[in-house]
Amino acid sequence: MTDKKQTRAASGAGMSGAGAKADPPVHAASISGEAIEILMHEKRRFEPPPGFSRDAHIRSLEEYQQLYDRSMTDPEGFWAEMAEQNLHWFRHWDKVLEYDFDRPQVAWFIGAQINVCYNCLDRHLTGEGRHKAAIVWESDSGEYRTFTYGQLALEVNRFANVLRKHGAGRGDRVSIYLPMIPELAIAMLACARIGAIHSVVFGGFSAGSLADRIRDCGACMLVTCDGGMRGGKVVPMKAHADEALRSCPTVEKVIVAERLGGRATAMEEGRDSWWRDEMEADDVDDYCRPQELDAEDPLFILYTSGSTGAPKGVLHTSGGYLLYAHLTFKWIFDYKPGDLHFCTADVGWITGHTYVVYGPLSNGATLLMFEGVPAYPGPDRLWRIVDKHQVSIFYTAPTVIRSLMREGAHWVEKHPLKSLRLLGSVGEPINPEAWMWYFENVGHGRLPIVDTYWQTETGGIIITPLPGAMTMKPGSASRPFPGVAPQVVRRDGSPAPPGEGGYLVVDKPWPGMLRGTYGDPEHKRVKEVYFEKFPGKYFTGDGAAVDAEGDYWLLGRIDDVVNVSGHRLGTAEIESALVSQESVAEAAVVGFPHEVKGSGVYAFVVLRQGYDGSDDMRRVLAAHVASEISPIARPDKIEFVSGLPKTRSGKIMRRILRKVAAGETQDLGDTSTLADPEVLDEIVAERL
Ligand code: WTA
Repeated sequence: MTDKKQTRAASGAGMSGAGAKADPPVHAASISGEAIEILMHEKRRFEPPPGFSRDAHIRSLEEYQQLYDRSMTDPEGFWAEMAEQNLHWFRHWDKVLEYDFDRPQVAWFIGAQINVCYNCLDRHLTGEGRHKAAIVWESDSGEYRTFTYGQLALEVNRFANVLRKHGAGRGDRVSIYLPMIPELAIAMLACARIGAIHSVVFGGFSAGSLADRIRDCGACMLVTCDGGMRGGKVVPMKAHADEALRSCPTVEKVIVAERLGGRATAMEEGRDSWWRDEMEADDVDDYCRPQELDAEDPLFILYTSGSTGAPKGVLHTSGGYLLYAHLTFKWIFDYKPGDLHFCTADVGWITGHTYVVYGPLSNGATLLMFEGVPAYPGPDRLWRIVDKHQVSIFYTAPTVIRSLMREGAHWVEKHPLKSLRLLGSVGEPINPEAWMWYFENVGHGRLPIVDTYWQTETGGIIITPLPGAMTMKPGSASRPFPGVAPQVVRRDGSPAPPGEGGYLVVDKPWPGMLRGTYGDPEHKRVKEVYFEKFPGKYFTGDGAAVDAEGDYWLLGRIDDVVNVSGHRLGTAEIESALVSQESVAEAAVVGFPHEVKGSGVYAFVVLRQGYDGSDDMRRVLAAHVASEISPIARPDKIEFVSGLPKTRSGKIMRRILRKVAAGETQDLGDTSTLADPEVLDEIVAERL
C-alpha cells in the first residue's frame, strides 16, 4: 500500500480540513483536494463477464437506465408494480406513498396489510420449496446443521406461540441478545409473525450496552443463550444478560437457548426458562396464525451510533422495508434459485438483518450462517466454508479482506473456490488495493464484485453496481439503486459538479428508509440528525464525489462517527466510557487511518491529579472501554495530555485532533481560535 492509498483506505481520512468554521457535527466544509485526486486517479475498469450479463436479472446499462428513469418519473407506479410482483399482501394499499421531508414523515403502502414472516416462510412451503434448505449453519468449530424451509417454519411457528404464551403481542418490544446461531433468525421471524418488534443487540456488546438498549425500548422479554463460541473461546452471554437485567425492570421473561449445553448456567426462578423446555411444552402448537399487520407497523428497532449522545434506535417498518430488502437482494446479488448466499456479517448489525435474514428468506434463498470468526482456526476459514458448502455468493467487509490479504494469498490459493459466482463488499469504503486483491485472488479475475453502499438508516443497499449491467471501477460504489435519488451537494446545498467532493444526501424517499427513531414520536431527533442540515433532503453523514460518468465514490464519514472494522461507533460514546473511569478528567476521541480496520480509535486523555500516564494506565483504560461498550470500541492509541485544544468558548477542536491522530501535523489548519495554543505543541510532541 502506498502512503497515499493508505490514506484512502481509512474512512473519513481523506477529508480536507478546509471547513474550520463548519458547525458541529459536520466538520468538513468542502471535501476536495487530495482525496478526490487520489480517487479519480484510479483508472482501472472491468466489464461484467458476458456470460454473467446474459443470465442476469438486469443485463445491461440500458436496461438499468430504463428502470431507473421509470423509478424517478413514476416512483409510485414503479414501487406498486414491484410490491405486487414480489410480495404477498393480505390487503392491497389505498395509497403507495405519502411523505414530507420537512416534518419529516414517510409512509409507504398506506392501508395495506402484510406479514413479513409469512413472506419469508409460508409462501415458500408449497411444492418443492418446503424441502429446500433455508439455513445452512456452520458452528465455530466446523459442525453444520441444515434447516429446510419446512423445518424452519415449524420452529418459528412454535416459538411465535411461546412468545404469545408469555404475553408478547403486536407492538411489544422483544430484545434478542444471541450469537450467530439459528435461534437468532428463529426469534426474529417469530416476533415478525405476531407483530412484536424485535431489537437485536449484537452479541459482542457489554452488559452495560445491552442494558441501555433494553431500557430505551422498554422490552418485555429477552431472548438470550447460555454462552457463545467465537474463535474457540466461550463468551458468557447469560452472565452479561443477568448483569444487564439488574437495571431493566420491564423485562419479565427471559428465554435462554442452549448453545453450550449442560444447563450449567444459573437461572432465575420465575423469570428464566430454557428455550427447549418452552418449545417442547404440550400447550405449544405447531402452527401460529400470522398476524395481519399494517405495512407501516414497526418490524424492528436497531440501535446505531451517531455523532452525539447515546445510540439511537432506528425504526424500520414492515411493508417498505421488506420490499426493499427483497428487491435489492434479488437484483444486486443477482439471486438465482440454486444459489447459496454467504454474508459474513453478524445479524446484530443491519447487514445481517437485511442480507442474512430478510432479503434471502423473502426470496426463498438458501443462506449460510456462520457462528465463528474469519481467522479461526486458520486464516482460510472462510474459503474452507465456501468450498465445503459450495457457496455461490460471498458478501463481506473490506476490513475482513484487508486482514486476510495481510496473511498472504497462499491461504486462498489452497482452495479452488469454483462455486463462487459473485462477490460483495460492505461497511466502509473499499480501497482499490483491497478491491484488486479480492478480485484477483478470490474472484480469479472472472467474478463481478458489488461494492454496496448503505447504512442502518437506509434499510438496504442504496448505491451499488448491478453486476450484469455495470462497468466496475475499483473503489467506486457505482450507481444508485432504482428509486434512490442521491446527490452530492456543497455546504450551501447546491449540487457539487462532477469530481468535486461534497456531502452525500438523498432527495426522495425509498421504501427501505428509516421511519424514525424509537422514543421520538414527534420526529424531533430524526429531523435534527438527518433532515435539518440540508432542508428537504436526507443527509447520510458521508462524503462523496460523482465522476463525469455518474459513478459515486464514497469518502467516509464526515461527522463524529468512526467505522472500526466496519463497526459503527460514536466518538462521544467512547469519550463518555473513558470519563466514567475514576482516573480520567477529560477525554476526546477521534478516528485515524488504520491499515486493516479502516479507522482506529485514538483517545486524548487528561488524567486527574495523582494519576500517572503509564502503559499500565493505558491498559486499564482500554479494558474499561471494552467492558463499558464492547471490545470493538477499545482505543488503539491513548495519548495522555495535560489539556485539550479548545476554542475560547470551550469547544474541543476535534478537527485539529483528527489531524494529529492522522499524523498530518505539518498542516493543522486554522489554529487562530485556540484558547491556549501551547497545549497543541505538547499534543503534537507526544503523538503516538
Ligand atoms: C459506511 C452498514 C463506503 C458509511 C451497512 C456509512 C460504506 C456507514 C459502504 C454505515 C461502502 C457502508 N462504501 N462506505 N460500500 N458501506 N459504508 O449503519 O460510512 O453500520 O455511513 O451500515 O458505513 O454503517 P452501518
